[in-house]
Amino acid sequence: MHKVQFTETVLRDANQSLMATRLPYADYEDILETMDKAGYYSAECWGGATFDSCLRYLGEDPWERLRKIRKHMPNTRLQMLLRGQNLLGYKHYHDDVVEKFVELSIKNGIDIIRIFDALNDFRNLGTALDATMKYATKKTIASGCISYTQSPVHTVEKYVEMCKELQRMGFQTICLKDMAGTMSPYEAEHLIKGIKDAVGDMPLILHTHCTTGMAYMTLTKAIESGIDVIDTATSCFSGGTSQPATETMFYALQQYGIETNLKEDVINQVNDYFKPIKQKYIDSGRINPKSMGTDAQALVYKVPGGMLSNMIANLTDMKAMDKFDAALAEIPAVRADLGYPPLVTPLSQMVGNQAVTNVLLGERYKQISKEVKNYIKGEYGIAPAPVSKDLENKVLGEGGKPIDCRIEDAKRTGEDFKAAKEALGDLARSEEDVMSYICFPDQTKKFLEGRKAKEENVATYAIEEA
Ligand code: CO
Repeated sequence: MHKVQFTETVLRDANQSLMATRLPYADYEDILETMDKAGYYSAECWGGATFDSCLRYLGEDPWERLRKIRKHMPNTRLQMLLRGQNLLGYKHYHDDVVEKFVELSIKNGIDIIRIFDALNDFRNLGTALDATMKYATKKTIASGCISYTQSPVHTVEKYVEMCKELQRMGFQTICLKDMAGTMSPYEAEHLIKGIKDAVGDMPLILHTHCTTGMAYMTLTKAIESGIDVIDTATSCFSGGTSQPATETMFYALQQYGIETNLKEDVINQVNDYFKPIKQKYIDSGRINPKSMGTDAQALVYKVPGGMLSNMIANLTDMKAMDKFDAALAEIPAVRADLGYPPLVTPLSQMVGNQAVTNVLLGERYKQISKEVKNYIKGEYGIAPAPVSKDLENKVLGEGGKPIDCRIEDAKRTGEDFKAAKEALGDLARSEEDVMSYICFPDQTKKFLEGRKAKEENVATYAIEEA
């Protein structure tokens, strides 16, 4: 019988989409053991922006958070999102750093590593995939992920080819990641049937967002077309820029007679637990009501939820919210100039910031960010379609060409570790500390200094007490 399983996203993507990943571990520790009994396919709990947010805003060690979740959820597969060669950041890391990061992620408790590249340049997935297989436990799954987007160059045939390539590379599952929530029911049907025909029994996962209002219809068609796993969020953290609701999909599937493995009473308990937490962040203003609504404009602009809320935050900071509509309208133009990259991190930020700059300065490309320049130089990989000639000439000089190799190919060294260890001195206690520093140097140093100061205070206090 057809079976559909669930990945619960409240700890990662729902948290990231609705409240800029500011949910501290302490808020959800008490529900983890209950969540462990829900029967999820997996719990997405790490990666994406969680790591950065832990260090930068929450004063938490992201590795320690992961180990604690692992301890409280021994029976559920823990899942992370990894940006291939970019790990969790915005730049390309050397192969040895990528390998070590994957090794430590598995060692600290991750079971499923969902690996994607913003441009679907799969050369950027190879190192992370190989490392996942190298350090795999019996529970480890390497999931190859496609950044879904729509453009004149993104056809069903192209996506089917991508899936075949992921299968050939050795991934165990394939995920379609519709970060902007723009996949329509019609597209889901054609895409999933096409992919299922091409890859056989390989489990297929759909990740989407409610941003445009399409998601429930799209999931329904996906289920009818043979999807194996869907990503959902407990209902009070669902909707808006987040995922569809876990319980709603569960009840709908029950009537289809499709097995889900979910325990009804447990998923309802999980939701009851998170209700007052959500209310707390609505009251504090951390959850912006704008992110909870439906915005069909995204079907025009193809803007993912996280990008939209970031842009609102930036424009609000600059007291330039009156430019919101103009900036939003500039995004598709910048995107076309750049060869239709999918709008996912870091490209969503790059395209978004460039669009804001173009609008605020009143002249297009008067200023081009370093990241966009590097993109045009080919350092992020191959663009899905050619970059505008004018823009290419502006950045590379007349007749200049982007590079055509993986940028880190020639750079496999141990120098990142050596430099990080030297910079941290006695602040670093573990390989995880060093890895945090390589990924987010400033935030990590501040965090580790804070940790040291706290311990010294505790030590002084203990002596006084004695
Ligand atoms: Co997402």
